[in-house]
Amino acid sequence: MSEVLAVDAADLTKTYGALTALDRISIQVAQGEVYGILGPNGAGKTTFLRMLFGLLRPDSGTLEVFGRSWQSHGIGVLEGVAGFIESPRFYPGLTGRKNLQLLAGLDGGATAARVDEVLDAVDLTERQGSKVSGYSFGMRQRLGVAASLLRNPSLLVLDEPANGLDPAGIRDMRALVKRLASSGLTVLLSSHDMGEVEHICDDVTIMRTGSVVYHGSITALREQAPAQAHRITTTDADAAEELTRARGLDVTRTDNTLAVRGPQDRIDALLADIIGAGIALRGLSLDETPLEALFFMLTEPAPDAVTVDVDTPATSGAHQ
Ligand SMILES: Nc1ncnc2c1ncn2[C@@H]1O[C@H](COP(=O)(O)OP(=O)(O)O)[C@@H](O)[C@H]1O
Ligand SMILES: [Mg+2]
Repeated sequence: MSEVLAVDAADLTKTYGALTALDRISIQVAQGEVYGILGPNGAGKTTFLRMLFGLLRPDSGTLEVFGRSWQSHGIGVLEGVAGFIESPRFYPGLTGRKNLQLLAGLDGGATAARVDEVLDAVDLTERQGSKVSGYSFGMRQRLGVAASLLRNPSLLVLDEPANGLDPAGIRDMRALVKRLASSGLTVLLSSHDMGEVEHICDDVTIMRTGSVVYHGSITALREQAPAQAHRITTTDADAAEELTRARGLDVTRTDNTLAVRGPQDRIDALLADIIGAGIALRGLSLDETPLEALFFMLTEPAPDAVTVDVDTPATSGAHQ
């Protein structure tokens, strides 16, 4: 028998009038993994996480957390579950530490040593005595994680933890989630950023307007991703395009810039061709990463939207 799943959601549906916020969503999170729910704004990520916390009831479908359901266990479902939806809230006029002590009080209190530990885990030891009103957005998010850790959770749920953070804040939040994950904690996080999920998560569910468009491992997803495009700007786009076609590379053109896809060695050879032909190179850059490109293909509305068969390897048609 396999271990009980941390989260086992099956066919969850939620409608708001004519709007279907969740359309038969199934998500399974194994214990110990870092699981990402990825999707653009409005995909239904928060709606799903609200259901997990019992803040919202599904119209239909079932949801179990560590084998417990809201119907049979009530609030007991949340034993071992901590996290926050959208942004954590604190008393701005109180210090970070005082906020944690108050929150711990709701759960029966925490020792000073435990408060020290969680502050250290999120790198807020030095600022624990400052009022939360003076915290950066990233520090507040980290304090939110600290508050969640106070409960010694087995499952940590984070709704877009890096949303609104500056690059340093994003880096710190990623490092924090990775550290927590390596301690064996199961982490379920939502994000609209493929780069974030790609580097943190083992498995991912990609959602678009309430539906699952992919679920599986990041490794499997990477195998389905299209080749990354090189953007090449030259002083003679006509000639450069001709050289590109002669090399058998896939090319699309916008003004003087070519977007070229193909094996790296052939692209390297093409660059040598261009320069060898006396054409000057004005710009060379890499397009979005292959996984980002795939994410946009999967989630951006288009009349002929791409779908990847769930649980089956993509066919080459999925790359068009
Ligand atoms: N209380 C509500 N009433 C009506 N529509 C809602 C409500 N909550 C969410 N929605 C809609 O459901 C969809 C999914 O929202 P949400 O789960 O917040 O998406 P995400 O978190 O992925 O950005 C959106 O179209 C949103 O406008
Ligand atoms: Mg949301």
